[in-house]
Amino acid sequence: MSETLRVAVIGAGRWAQRAHIPGWQRDPRVDVVALADTDPDVLAQAGRDFQVARLVTDYRELLDDPDIDVIDVATANHAHFDISAAALDAGKHVLCEKPVHHDYRQTRALSERAQAKGLKTKLGFTFRYAPAVQYAKSLIDAGFVGEPYIFNGYEQNSQWIDPGTPMRQVDPDADPSVITTSSIEGYGAPIIDMMHWFSGGELRSVVGTMRNFVPERMIRATGQMQRLNIDDGDMWIGEFDNGVLASIQSSYVTVGNFPGIEARIYGSEGAIIVRLVEEFGVCQTIRTATKDEVEFVEREIPQEFFPTGGHSREDWDFLFYSNLCADFATEILSGGPANQGDFGQGALVQETINAFERSFRTRAWVDLPLNAPAADGAVAA
Ligand SMILES: NC(=O)c1ccc[n+]([C@@H]2O[C@H](COP(=O)([O-])OP(=O)(O)OC[C@H]3O[C@@H](n4cnc5c(N)ncnc54)[C@H](O)[C@@H]3O)[C@@H](O)[C@H]2O)c1
Repeated sequence: MSETLRVAVIGAGRWAQRAHIPGWQRDPRVDVVALADTDPDVLAQAGRDFQVARLVTDYRELLDDPDIDVIDVATANHAHFDISAAALDAGKHVLCEKPVHHDYRQTRALSERAQAKGLKTKLGFTFRYAPAVQYAKSLIDAGFVGEPYIFNGYEQNSQWIDPGTPMRQVDPDADPSVITTSSIEGYGAPIIDMMHWFSGGELRSVVGTMRNFVPERMIRATGQMQRLNIDDGDMWIGEFDNGVLASIQSSYVTVGNFPGIEARIYGSEGAIIVRLVEEFGVCQTIRTATKDEVEFVEREIPQEFFPTGGHSREDWDFLFYSNLCADFATEILSGGPANQGDFGQGALVQETINAFERSFRTRAWVDLPLNAPAADGAVAA
């Protein structure tokens, strides 16, 4: 492979244009050589705005091209799995938006397929790549918190606190008497990713609950108010095998600004609080304390955690995604084993979400891994 990474972005809609395409184009080692979208108008507009010459409505035209190294899947959710699988089969490295698949076993199977072929994968875990989060992880690795005790994770803002804010209907055939997962699937994944990453152990058991606070909402397609029994707020507890106790809270009816992430880790020596909430033009902060100096103080984030020229007053999506793209480029071009936030991690996060839901449905603690073979060799439901 040359020193330049050639990327094709599949799905050129809102998120591709805010995060993926500009994120890749910020890296001088990367060329965005093609875009694909089934909507010709979106495709033409994105091609013009980002000056990408090769535009196709059928992504399969790109798969056999030896001059493409990476397929970046930024389509609507339903196409993530099939395009990722086809790209891996064609020998391409793959970045994919979450979720790759709602069934974590399917995502894990793709992870294994990639590893067998020596290919790298990456999930769109945007917030892991925030400079403040990468800095926090480097402090944890350097021993700043000591032995980790407690992780508290929040992903919450007030995006849908107003019932009139249009929402895509989750499932037109859903039984309105049964609450379905929504916030924990749509919002929870990034903070669950951080919970696993910061805690450093294996998650063994979870319990929790979810609630529908706003009963009727505006449906985008019909323009009508409709009963939607969906989780718009939830809370969970997790126990790790290294002794860490963790909590997760996700909601989109909790007053506060985007993106609304807060991760707190407390240990035997110190504590770190990372906040990714855009307030007064600043999109991230990190505060730390130690057992000897218990008042939290804000830390400056070292420049090495930013893209060249980057700063905390940039748009959060562009800043964090620039780091994600640069990290994937480094992982691929270096040829080494590093591959953070890959499909294997995506499968673990999805398995955690599935375990949370099972706990709510059964009103009981649920052990991980799910579907572990029982003592008699049978596979649990
Ligand atoms: N990681 C994050 O923080 C984050 C934030 C926002 C959105 N997302 C994810 O990004 C994805 C895209 O979201 P969006 O808001 O841009 O939606 P969007 O509807 O604006 O864009 C999706 C585009 O994909 C195209 N498309 C659909 N199927 C296709 C196919 N088979 N081949 C080629 N193109 C196809 C559509 O025509 C559309 O233009 C979603 O999975 C969403 O969940 C992630």
